[in-house]
Amino acid sequence: MLPDKPKFFGRRKGRTIRKAKSFLLDNFLPRIRIAADKKIDLNSCFTEPKEGYFLEIGFGDGEHLAALSQRMPQYGFFGVEVYQNGVANLLSLMTGLKDGNAEDLTDEIKLLPQRTDNVRVYDDDVRLLFSLLPDSAFDKVYLLFPDPWPKTKHAARRFINPDNLRSIARILKKGGILQVATDHPIYKRWTLETLHTNPDFIWTAQTSDDWRYPPKDWYETKYQRKAVREGRRPVFFEFRRI
Ligand SMILES: C[S@@+](CC[C@H](N)C(=O)[O-])C[C@H]1O[C@@H](n2cnc3c(N)ncnc32)[C@H](O)[C@@H]1O
Repeated sequence: MLPDKPKFFGRRKGRTIRKAKSFLLDNFLPRIRIAADKKIDLNSCFTEPKEGYFLEIGFGDGEHLAALSQRMPQYGFFGVEVYQNGVANLLSLMTGLKDGNAEDLTDEIKLLPQRTDNVRVYDDDVRLLFSLLPDSAFDKVYLLFPDPWPKTKHAARRFINPDNLRSIARILKKGGILQVATDHPIYKRWTLETLHTNPDFIWTAQTSDDWRYPPKDWYETKYQRKAVREGRRPVFFEFRRI
């Protein structure tokens, strides 16, 4: 049975989506969209099984997902984002199609030549997807700059909470990684406190450099750039599934 629709407090739509991106949502997204109407077999989402699978929750404008999936064509990537403008931006990064080079939107849209077909997208709330994903399926789950909901009265909206961690623990392989980045002081503390008492994860940091700097080959996200511009220092927490 499909889960009830949970209440979502963020934005689903923003500024008007320009012509090329709107075209991509209508004509390209259906080709890579995950249908959340039955249990999902990750291997059969792609033309051939991949060496492993990654999940990015709340990919925003998709820069990190687009870059990582291009660098690792042998892996399958699942990206989830509720915000339609962000999904459209990811599609633009994957195809190179944007206003300015989109004179002929009737041509069949193709991935950029340097890309393989290794990204699948779910454009709704990831909590609807969790129960359809198999156990021990992912090598790594990324949660980059989640909305901090800093007011105490909104703490229940924070994505890091025992229910979501239980779902992530189930779909991660043993030894798999949950990668969290945040720039918000309250969310930094909240993340460490919540994961410290969680029996399924262990924080991998050995020295402060392990969380003060991003892992090697990191791709900056929009919110990371915004944080740095505004003088906030991001941290990069890596938790291993026990
Ligand atoms: C602060 S933004 C960060 C975006 C991106 N990761 C970055 O670093 O630029 C958080 C994103 O998570 C998405 N999000 C929040 N809750 C979500 C959920 N339950 N399912 C899918 N996406 C979610 C929001 O729509 C938003 O785009």
